[in-house]
Amino acid sequence: FGLSVREMAAQWAVLALLAACMASAAKESVLNMCMDAKHHKTEPGPEEALHGQCVLWKDNACCTANTSTEAHQDQSYLYNFNWNHCGVMPEKCKQHFIQDTCLYECSPNLGPWIDQADTSWRRERILNVPLCKEDCELWWEDCQDAITCKENWHKGWNWTSGTNRCPRGFMCQPFKYVFPRPADLCEKIWSNSYKYTMEHRGSGRCIQMWFDPANGNPNVAVAKYYAQNGRDASPTPRAVLLLLLPAALLLWRGWYDGIA
Ligand SMILES: *[C@@H]1O[C@H](CO)[C@@H](O)[C@H](O)[C@H]1NC(C)=O
Ligand SMILES: *[C@@H]1O[C@H](CO)[C@@H](O)[C@H](O)[C@H]1NC(C)=O
Repeated sequence: FGLSVREMAAQWAVLALLAACMASAAKESVLNMCMDAKHHKTEPGPEEALHGQCVLWKDNACCTANTSTEAHQDQSYLYNFNWNHCGVMPEKCKQHFIQDTCLYECSPNLGPWIDQADTSWRRERILNVPLCKEDCELWWEDCQDAITCKENWHKGWNWTSGTNRCPRGFMCQPFKYVFPRPADLCEKIWSNSYKYTMEHRGSGRCIQMWFDPANGNPNVAVAKYYAQNGRDASPTPRAVLLLLLPAALLLWRGWYDGIA
């Protein structure tokens, strides 16, 4: 046959190593990147002139200064989205929606959760980004006095006037009725872009919408963790297989040497 079992095992090991390297390179490539959506830059980079609440990302951002300014405006040119569709949204609530926009437009650390979108206005979206408990709960608490008519703000609006208005039959109600728990708000409002978690700010296991830029961007480490461990934070079957492969090889060689 030409090749001995030992040689075949060695070749197999080399192939497995190569596959592992390629898998790890693919995972690295989701770090420090911008999604392919409506206003994102193609590559992240420094932006000296970021505005207001988006300034946290000025060292490395996927948004331009223009996008960061627009993120603070009612019915901005970004999406023509009207926060005030059931009366004026209270300022303390609106700041969370601005921060949510800043994170979405500016963060270069959402790569592990980028998914295909297949809509007319963007090719990619984010799905199940694990949001820190505090970020979700504060957002929910500060919006208790806000009013809305819809649970999912991505679709179902009446856009005939050029901006989103409540469709017929949808009643304006306080947030606490539309979103009874913090998870309802964070998960349902943008069709599962975020996932509510029990992880705390600073744990390195959840994405922070708010952070102190003096200590660097904590989401860099979070993206790295989920890129390496799988976005569901449990070892993926493939990772387990790759770990077991060398052991299997040794066992097989031992068994073969034993009978030979
Ligand atoms: C941002 O750019 C858009 C499109 O070019 C423009 O209409 C808008 O006025 C700009 N906004 C700011 C704040 O400069
Ligand atoms: C949408 O709004 C327009 C007025 O701007 C109204 O005539 C129409 O009936 C609305 N449609 C729905 C489905 O709410």
